[in-house]
Amino acid sequence: MVKVKMFEGVQRDPQPAQQLPPMDREAFYKVVDSRRSVRIYAEDAVPAEVIARCIEAAQKAPNSSNLQCWEVHQVVTPVLKQRLVQACLGQPAASTAPELFVFVARPDLWRRNNGWTLKALEQRGDAPERAFQYFRKITKIAYTQGAFAWVKRIWFFIRGIGKATPREPVGWSDMRVWAHKSTALAASHFMLAMRAEGFDTCPMEGMDSRRVKRLLGLPRRAEVNMVISAGRRTEKGVYGPRFRFPIDTFFKKA
Ligand SMILES: Cc1cc2nc3c(=O)[nH]c(=O)nc-3n(C[C@H](O)[C@H](O)[C@H](O)COP(=O)(O)O)c2cc1C
Repeated sequence: MVKVKMFEGVQRDPQPAQQLPPMDREAFYKVVDSRRSVRIYAEDAVPAEVIARCIEAAQKAPNSSNLQCWEVHQVVTPVLKQRLVQACLGQPAASTAPELFVFVARPDLWRRNNGWTLKALEQRGDAPERAFQYFRKITKIAYTQGAFAWVKRIWFFIRGIGKATPREPVGWSDMRVWAHKSTALAASHFMLAMRAEGFDTCPMEGMDSRRVKRLLGLPRRAEVNMVISAGRRTEKGVYGPRFRFPIDTFFKKA
């Protein structure tokens, strides 16, 4: 049996070093500092090419095992948009928004995406054996649940007594958390990209996720991560100054 060691050794990149562009720190912080949750939008639509770039930026977010268990649905049909606004409890961040997107976590797609990844590695031709091992063995141990979750629970507990052992995801609720983490990172990329393009957003979890799933025709195990509205802010679109607790309540050193 091949022994798979997940994070062992440093693999040298066989490709020539990528040319990194010069960084524009000020531009980045301008984006971060001016991004606010916008609740009242102007009527103008977001140009399709802007949306396309922001979606591409969202898809470049880091994600667990690169299995990409996420989706973004833009709701464009007027009748569906109306239903989505209702599902968002009629809140102004949705009702005044020219564009509405639903970020969806798809833990149920890990096996399909694992298969796609293996196929892509085969097509690449030069993929290292360790990559195949990861997607043939490790991901299957990590993400298979059902009755196997109980095996893992006991196995990881016993193994974990003596050495560091990955504990999650074990069971379907862990799989939900697993997929939501990566999807939220994609959502964050999306909102920052919109700001970089001069547009604004508001993430929303104040919504009826069951109704949102129904209107998008999503299967039972798909999970609405958040609805994000987008457009151009109006003068009264931001409700107040940004407020955060002192930084030492957030950032700790151990
Ligand atoms: C997961 C999540 C859910 C949110 N849900 C809503 C919502 O339903 N309605 C709303 O107006 N704002 C919502 N917000 C926006 C927050 O209220 C906002 O991010 C927070 O007050 C900080 O303000 P800022 O985004 O302007 O920095 C949500 C934000 C996140 C990250």
